[in-house]
Amino acid sequence: MAGKIVLCRCEDMTLSDLEHCVARGYRDIEEVKRYTGFGTGPCQGKECLAPVATQLARLTEVAPSTIRPFTSRPPLAPTPIKLLARAPDAHRFPDDEEAEKKP
Ligand code: FES
Repeated sequence: MAGKIVLCRCEDMTLSDLEHCVARGYRDIEEVKRYTGFGTGPCQGKECLAPVATQLARLTEVAPSTIRPFTSRPPLAPTPIKLLARAPDAHRFPDDEEAEKKP
């Protein structure tokens, strides 16, 4: 098959990458996820899980229904880093409180 077939657009994983995984012995969708990073992009696998599972089933010659989805881990939605990086009140400086009181 000619050309580059992208399976995961977020992480730029191709059919060729999946074929390489299977050739190296990675036959479980969790292993493929860890090896390639597919499913870890902004859509968290919503776009790519089905095509990767379908191709993995084809390459490993198993029924597609036997391929279980990978385990989703938080955050389940893209989270702005500013929500995680906010300093707790205990680490605030007195000048911060004065600045907030000013109109
Ligand atoms: S297309 Fe694969 S994580 Fe978004």
